[in-house]
Amino acid sequence: MIEIFDDKDAVYLRAAELIIEKAAEAIEERGSFSLVLAGGSTPRGIYQLLASPNLRERIDWPRVVAVIGDERNVSPDHADSNYRMVRENLLEHVPIPENAVVRWEPEIGNPDEVALNFEKQLTDKLGPAPTFDLVLLGLGDDGHTASLFPGTSAIKEPDRYAVANNVPQLSTDRFTLTFPAVNNAANVAFVVTGRAKAAAVSAVIDQQQFPAARIIPKAGRLYWLLDTDAASLLAAR
Ligand code: 6PG
Repeated sequence: MIEIFDDKDAVYLRAAELIIEKAAEAIEERGSFSLVLAGGSTPRGIYQLLASPNLRERIDWPRVVAVIGDERNVSPDHADSNYRMVRENLLEHVPIPENAVVRWEPEIGNPDEVALNFEKQLTDKLGPAPTFDLVLLGLGDDGHTASLFPGTSAIKEPDRYAVANNVPQLSTDRFTLTFPAVNNAANVAFVVTGRAKAAAVSAVIDQQQFPAARIIPKAGRLYWLLDTDAASLLAAR
């Protein structure tokens, strides 16, 4: 479902409300809520809203498992770390247990060991091949999402949930959940704002191009939360 809002702040508020809604549903049904958090800069505004005094009480944080959806090959305190961004804008401000946060640990060893360690954390906390209750995703202007970049090995992964992914176009290794992991989720929400993303949004939605077009939840619901700028090149519907 595509939802278009006047500006990014309205997108952030809708995203925060969606997270609150899905958390209440999951906790009511099963007593816990697994939330995969996107990296990059767009979601920062969502996390700040969820951490704000008038919203942070709306989620039963002790019953949440927070998962970092993808990560850069940097230490957790590095300026480019997605975990650091999520920690500073959300996790430090809500009563989520320290051991309920699943993060990539690039500092422990080679990229494959990092991915295996992350997968073990996922399994320990959520069981094998979990169905995430909600996955938040951003979109790059090249049509990547998470760290599933065009032409990289991770977009071919048929089974594993978490892999290391060499990204030649960035000359770096990344860590990412895979299509099997995201497409098994109960809910997936892309949050995309700004005119710079308009071409990628249309290419993914209208022409099914790029890796992000392969986010097709098997049984879950797919949301696109866009501002008018990001939606500006979408075909009329
Ligand atoms: C990352 C993200 C990545 C991001 C997009 C959009 O590690 O950078 O996971 O997939 O969501 O690149 O990034 P912005 O929100 O900064 O535009």
